[in-house]
Amino acid sequence: MITSALPRLCGADMEVPLADGTLHRYVNLDCAASTPALEGVVDAVTAALPWYSSVHRGAGHLSQVSTRLYEAARQSVAAFVGARPGDSVVFVRNTTDAINHLAACLRVPAGATVLATEIEHHANMLPWRRLGPVEYLPPPASPQALLDSMEAALRAGAGRVAVVAVTGASNVTGEVMPVVEMARLAHAHGAIISVDAAQLAPHRTIDMAAMDVDCLALSGHKMYAPFGAGALVVRTDLVADAEPLLAGGGAVDFVTLGDVLWTGMPDRLEAGSPNVLGAIALGVAATILTEVGMARIAEHERRLLARIDEAFARMPRLQRLRLWDDPSLDRLGVVTFTIAGMHHALVAAVLSAEHAIGVRHGCFCAHPYITRLLGIDAVAANSVRSSLQRGERAGIPGAVRASFGIGTTEADIDELVSALAQLLDVGPQLEYRQDEHTGDFHPVTDARTWPVFAGLPSLDTAGHAAGCGQF
Ligand SMILES: Cc1ncc(COP(=O)(O)O)c(C=O)c1O
Repeated sequence: MITSALPRLCGADMEVPLADGTLHRYVNLDCAASTPALEGVVDAVTAALPWYSSVHRGAGHLSQVSTRLYEAARQSVAAFVGARPGDSVVFVRNTTDAINHLAACLRVPAGATVLATEIEHHANMLPWRRLGPVEYLPPPASPQALLDSMEAALRAGAGRVAVVAVTGASNVTGEVMPVVEMARLAHAHGAIISVDAAQLAPHRTIDMAAMDVDCLALSGHKMYAPFGAGALVVRTDLVADAEPLLAGGGAVDFVTLGDVLWTGMPDRLEAGSPNVLGAIALGVAATILTEVGMARIAEHERRLLARIDEAFARMPRLQRLRLWDDPSLDRLGVVTFTIAGMHHALVAAVLSAEHAIGVRHGCFCAHPYITRLLGIDAVAANSVRSSLQRGERAGIPGAVRASFGIGTTEADIDELVSALAQLLDVGPQLEYRQDEHTGDFHPVTDARTWPVFAGLPSLDTAGHAAGCGQF
């Protein structure tokens, strides 16, 4: 069977400098954080740009064209996630934005609670705390263990759990969650289910109708459309009467000095001028991924995962972090590990400076989960908290995460494996110094220079690339 190549990504052949000044092909193994754009997305946005104008409220021809492009993008996203006729696709900035909107406008009875897990990304943890008390299920040892603890919590909640808020797949360790079964349990106990699909959407088929999922959040920048838009897909009846999080133009039908008549969905949750080009990009990415076939994408990534699993199994000094080991259970292309005696930030710095490999290190915006995985108890966690309050980040805990997607090749995996093998065998080849403020490591001698972009400010004075100190 002849299968066509997977679609190309912008910057796929990018060469970047190593610390010794030589150029090397960039190996992007940080797709769980953000992905490059599909070339098809870039082409579509470029084609749409001359036609760009205000949407919805303009009578001009360009406004009409832009409005149609914007609404067509909504339909593409709806089709991509298998939305039902009674669902609304709301364009937002990203998953964080989507969940904040949702948690702010869902109406729940007094005393209602939210059920989540300890493995959630902060984006699916913090917004819900504003809705009501949240109970967190411990990191499960298997999908069945998750379902059992969920069922027990729902039973104990005796109808008080209004929302089950869960991730579709872990951004830290990659396990795919049993969404269909969780939806069934939630509904059986009178709750709705909201799925954080930031990681699931770019890698697995989503069918909200078949999965019986009530609400879903995703980010364009994680699905090859990094133009600033994401989506909240929600059962319209759940939010049709909601007071929106954002108040402003476009979300209303009529305003008096003392009153406001909010408009219908989805505009009700899209106050302000929307990110039209971002939405177009997201819609095109959704269409391209659907055309390629999510099953084919999953197959490609599973093959790479098997390759990396096999290689890592031969490197016992790499300590893998994961929820469950059973190879028959579905996992995304996310591989997280620590190396005893070597700071996670140093590993990431070596991979970048000596091998042009981009990975993520730290706690992946999932502090409760990563502290659990690393065995950090309450006393140690408190000491981390105190260090951070003093602005000391040198000793913050963490791990290294390699993550991949449709643009990843076997050669990429092999480069990572051989770089890690060298690091384990002979250690870093350069001398590194740690920045006390950010916790990051940098080669003492570094010949890398910044690219120069026509029309953009020089990067020499733009501050340290990793200087935000976030982890
Ligand atoms: C599982 C998960 N949820 C939510 C988010 C937040 O996504 P965003 O930063 O696009 O809002 C991420 C980002 O890494 C994620 O991995």
